[in-house]
Amino acid sequence: MARNIRIVEVGPRDGLQNEKSSIPTAIKLSFIDALASAGLREIEATSFVSPKWVPQLGDAEQLWPALPPGPLYSALIPNAKGLARAIDLGVDRIALFTASSETFVQRNINMSIEQSLAVFADLIAEFRSRKPSGWIRGYVSTAFECPYEGWIDPRNTANVAKKLVDIGVDEVALGDTIGVAVPAEVAALTKIVTEAIPVDRIAYHFHDTRGTAIANVLQALELGVGCFDSSAGGLGGCPFAPGAGGNLATEDLVYFLERSGLPTKVDLYRLSQASLAIFEVLGRSPSAKSQLAQLSLSGTCPT
Ligand code: COA
Ligand code: ZN
Repeated sequence: MARNIRIVEVGPRDGLQNEKSSIPTAIKLSFIDALASAGLREIEATSFVSPKWVPQLGDAEQLWPALPPGPLYSALIPNAKGLARAIDLGVDRIALFTASSETFVQRNINMSIEQSLAVFADLIAEFRSRKPSGWIRGYVSTAFECPYEGWIDPRNTANVAKKLVDIGVDEVALGDTIGVAVPAEVAALTKIVTEAIPVDRIAYHFHDTRGTAIANVLQALELGVGCFDSSAGGLGGCPFAPGAGGNLATEDLVYFLERSGLPTKVDLYRLSQASLAIFEVLGRSPSAKSQLAQLSLSGTCPT
């Protein structure tokens, strides 16, 4: 059972990238500030992708230099142009992203899986030469199922994970992009992936589309995985994955870990306030279950 747990807050990137209405940079910054004040130590703050593909995160150049000090920030990078933009701003933690489904990679970054790995190998070499102490994550999206291709053989996911480690990423994040997985599948995938790469290189990125994310976290924890992605209030989805629901809510993850005796150093009350504030801007309520329970206890939850 993993005991030193890391939480990577992906709300500002995976969450906000999916929002239709334009969110001012200042609002994003106060959201991130509130997340940092709640004690979140690792935050994926934005992406350096094409603003034509993801307009919502087109303000990365304005956002990055204004990020509040404290947390470790990372950014999603798809290609050489994205890496150059990030290096210019001093970004030292990057996340590259591919998937175990050809169709998804094509629709998401307009490359094949092999092309993406070849591009990433060059990006990693460039990044390591410019930022020797930098940190690199590689995402394998659609690790269980693809919205276009359906079920994905776990051996394909393990294969891509191994290739990412071989080209030099520090960590592989396995993404249940459309939130279909159940614990038995997490166990099966973890077993196959850990035959290819060490368990301490694995993070899980669960979406909670079908309410299975916490059960999946428990399963992964029991198999030694210690890093989980989540988003405040359950923000999220993916514009290139029809049917993707929000990420596992950070409140639910923190509640579950703390009550299980696994300390997170995250202040649940402050985190709830951070979520409520950003959801108020978005004009809807957080989907986090622990958040709904709080509202209902305080009598403000509509029945
Ligand atoms: N940052 C900013 N602009 C970029 C860019 C980047 N990282 N990469 C490409 N562009 C620009 C190019 O300069 C070009 O601009 P122009 O039309 O004004 O000349 C245009 O985008 C097209 O460039 P091209 O290299 O042909 O890219 P593409 O259209 O094949 O798209 C990606 C490839 C990777 C840039 C695009 O698919 C993308 O940004 N995907 C990200 C998707 C995402 O964020 N998904 C969320 C994760 S789940
Ligand atoms: Zn996601």
